[in-house]
Amino acid sequence: MSALHWVRNFNYCGRCQALAKYLTFFNSQKMKRQLLLFTYLLTLLAACTPDDVSLQAEEGEQYAGGENFTTFDFSENAFGVQGKNLSREDEDFFVAGNALFRTNWVTAPSSVQSLDGLGPIFNAISCGSCHFKDGRAAPPESPDEALNGLLIRLSIPGKGPEGQPVGDLIYGGQLQDKSILGVPAEARVRINYEYLPGTYADGEPYSLRRPVYEFYDQQYGDFAPDLQFSPRIGQQLPGMGLLEHIPESTILSFADENDTNEDGISGKPNYVWDKTRNATVLGRFGWKANQPNLIQQTADAFNGDIGITSSLNPSDHLTAQQRAANGEIPNGGEPELTDRQLERVVRYLSTLAVPARRGVDDPKVLLGKELFTQMKCTSCHIPKMQTGSDSDIDALNNQMIYPYTDLLLHDMGEGLADHRPDFMANGREWRTPPLWGIGMIPTVNGHSYLLHDGRARNLEEAILWHGGEAGAAKTAFEERSAVERAAVITFLESL
Ligand code: HEC
Ligand code: HEC
Repeated sequence: MSALHWVRNFNYCGRCQALAKYLTFFNSQKMKRQLLLFTYLLTLLAACTPDDVSLQAEEGEQYAGGENFTTFDFSENAFGVQGKNLSREDEDFFVAGNALFRTNWVTAPSSVQSLDGLGPIFNAISCGSCHFKDGRAAPPESPDEALNGLLIRLSIPGKGPEGQPVGDLIYGGQLQDKSILGVPAEARVRINYEYLPGTYADGEPYSLRRPVYEFYDQQYGDFAPDLQFSPRIGQQLPGMGLLEHIPESTILSFADENDTNEDGISGKPNYVWDKTRNATVLGRFGWKANQPNLIQQTADAFNGDIGITSSLNPSDHLTAQQRAANGEIPNGGEPELTDRQLERVVRYLSTLAVPARRGVDDPKVLLGKELFTQMKCTSCHIPKMQTGSDSDIDALNNQMIYPYTDLLLHDMGEGLADHRPDFMANGREWRTPPLWGIGMIPTVNGHSYLLHDGRARNLEEAILWHGGEAGAAKTAFEERSAVERAAVITFLESL
């Protein structure tokens, strides 16, 4: 590419754009003068500050969740707002589902509460304790603090009959670190951090922290010697219904499994088992897109995280050894959660709105957004797409949304690897998380921890952990000036 061509295509500074035009004019005249001007232009470019940005916000981009599912509530309740243009029935479902989401389940039998059947082993007593205010959980503050919103998936090598990971023979597929009275919890986890130094291209140092996990107090014997484990933090939940209704064809159109366009970024769909359809289908939810839809995500969370049975999971999450060790266990009904209750929680999740963008016209946000595109963050965090037209919640249909995800798996390198496959996802692959609402996490949840295990202490560290297919994007970020890096962060904060 000639220098002139580059100048013509460069477009983030208004002053520079005008100069580029001037330069093009002289191109047809005198080469010498062109060179002289080019040098001058370079000097100006170096002085180009965010104030010079002549970029414009895209029409409607502040409506992150489209017309019906965008909220302008920027308080600590920002993730818990209901969408609009819903039927009366869906409005009622939202209220009932919200209550069930926040309910603290108790041990059966309970004389005062019908919502009993907790455990016998579990991670938390309500959905809301991990997704506090429908938001993002944080890792423990100190090594021995109990986990609260971080869970550990367990498996041994190999695949089950439906392509799923095979759980540890004694402990099953998830470590439950809490239990009801009289039943031992499975084990406890201690998290320590190792600190890794790094430097930006301009010489500014940074430090990243990598979690190191230690399991102790195993109550049912040893883990399998070849145990694989995957720590995962609870995500924020706005916009779930919209994500569920992105057409499969749209998601598959983002995939490029063999990298045929040679941009170093593949993008691969996960295919997972759907218990209601008895079939292998596209995965969408969870850090590895290991869940196909909200009903199964919810039923499995009730079962695995809280110990509540439903028609999708009729028995408690216990292995044969654990059943034998514990004998008769209290039961809160068969199943403990009715289909009506399950549906209400799902409807609640489906109709949660997304916070509107803040400051879309702010020049710094616009510069950050431009850099986000230039650094090719958008290859995975795809800004914009439309929902399908087949939802029975009419308000979810045909919405133009800005989720900043492709819902596909990407190899994120060794640094983030958990070395635990999950259906088609291998031990280095993660689903691109939607970035909408990410800038509101500090307001809602009072912290800024990010990534699948909460290791990143802020947005900057989340970017610096990118590797593998995202390695070039990370390097591009490291090579930007401090002003430009700050603009990228300001843009992310506006999401
Ligand atoms: C122990 C903490 C914990 C509890 C309790 C919990 N979750 Fe989660 N939730 C998580 C984690 C961790 C993930 C990511 C799981 C994964 O990647 O495998 C998740 C993922 C989700 C997702 C998918 C989010 C996304 O962006 O893909 C939904 C929806 C969800 N949970 C709903 C619920 C509901 C409903 C309940 C109550 C029945 C619940 N959760 C209870 C921790 C929890
Ligand atoms: C190859 C695909 C890909 C590219 C390119 C990419 N990302 Fe990501 N991004 C991911 C995946 C996958 C994760 C989740 C990784 C994890 O949790 O271990 C992620 C996580 C994040 C997170 C944290 C999200 C959360 O919910 O915790 C931020 C912020 C982010 N990316 C910003 C960026 C920026 C800025 C760029 C460009 C410099 C970028 N990403 C480029 C795939 C990508």
